[in-house]
Amino acid sequence: MKIEPKVRGFICTSAHPVGCKQRVVQQIDYVKSQPKLSSNIKNVLVIGASTGYGLATRIVSSFGLGAKTIGVFFEREATEKRTASPGWYNSAAFEQAAKEAGIYARSFCGDAFSSGVKKQVIEAIKQDFAGKVDLIVYSLAAPRRTDHEGNTYQSALKPIGKTYDDKTVDTMTGVVSNVEITPATTDEIVGTEKVMGGEDWALWIEDLIQADVLAEGALSLAYSYIGPKMTYPIYREGTIGVAKEHLEKTAIELNAKMQKAVRGRALVSVNKALVTQASSAIPVVPLYISILYKVMEEEGMQEGCIEQMQRLFAENICSADTKLDDKQRIRMDDWELKAEVQKEVADAWGKVVTENLEQLSDIEGCRKEFYQLFGFQVDGVDYNADVDINVPIPSIVGEEVC
Ligand code: NAI
Repeated sequence: MKIEPKVRGFICTSAHPVGCKQRVVQQIDYVKSQPKLSSNIKNVLVIGASTGYGLATRIVSSFGLGAKTIGVFFEREATEKRTASPGWYNSAAFEQAAKEAGIYARSFCGDAFSSGVKKQVIEAIKQDFAGKVDLIVYSLAAPRRTDHEGNTYQSALKPIGKTYDDKTVDTMTGVVSNVEITPATTDEIVGTEKVMGGEDWALWIEDLIQADVLAEGALSLAYSYIGPKMTYPIYREGTIGVAKEHLEKTAIELNAKMQKAVRGRALVSVNKALVTQASSAIPVVPLYISILYKVMEEEGMQEGCIEQMQRLFAENICSADTKLDDKQRIRMDDWELKAEVQKEVADAWGKVVTENLEQLSDIEGCRKEFYQLFGFQVDGVDYNADVDINVPIPSIVGEEVC
């Protein structure tokens, strides 16, 4: 079968297995090219492990630290007519590479918000991690959540209080236009906090404490975003910002619980804005990211998910001296928020229109990266070759894990 990209709005409904694999291999190669990491972390659980920041975290854990990983994600397997989702192919490629390297990797494809998946993962920790997990990373980005009582919540990406009107870009066509986003309802604010806030992260940690599977000194991390003032109305002061505030407040509470249980820690890492499936869905943000990429590339500071996660581990997770801000957060957005970077971004933002988009931003690079999330436009892949869309994830089909 020959596979073409099928883009609908900010999502692509097809994915290329060979392209996805190639991107995973590139990330593994990057980690292997970096100075060796060292820490006591041997067993890692990544919740949201198949794409974006979670996948990069899993790769650094395995190929940087040599740790065993359990990954949880919600992805689609291929059917007769439809390719699998990119996270499925990424996870298949990741597990294959881990297996070849003799590194344990087991995956659970299911709803991380459910109590059933939590129970299965705890069983796996008991069986395969000799009962203890050292690092738990919560990297979910989801549109909805059904909680343990059966209530379903939707997340929304909207401003709060007043209509927001600013520039946005259609990444595919490069047309810059104005977008008006009406304020969120109370239900939308509550729903976003329920889906993207810290409630489910806390449930995971409470279940892990209850089951006595946290190793002495265990660390849990969740990822957040702040961004510059220009995106505050849609991000930090919008529905998603309320959820992130909740996540950050939850970190403080979980930190106390983990301290008490195992002398452990819970922290939030504020990461950089990047092209991922999650960020592509936020209005205005893709235009900001395309300008940011150009500025950071010119300054020699551009990082993708894997570079961010490698630096997170090297400078913080594997360091005796984790650097925290006044709200107890790790700041991996330090380069993005440098005054000189943000000044250039703001200057370009004021001037950008469709006609000068290519000069003022890296829209072409962002478009390519968007396609690459789905395995397309990846260098070295023959897109004319026939490919089999059925690619198994070894641990899910029941192959023995290392
Ligand atoms: P992503 O869309 O690339 O990955 C989301 C992951 O969550 C995937 O592995 C997916 O399978 C999994 N997932 C979604 N619903 C699930 C469910 N019900 N059960 C199990 N797994 C589920 O997202 P990305 O961008 O890597 O985001 C991860 C975290 O990083 C989020 O908290 C996000 O807010 C944060 N972040 C993202 C930034 C960005 O620019 N992309 C910047 C800073 C933080």
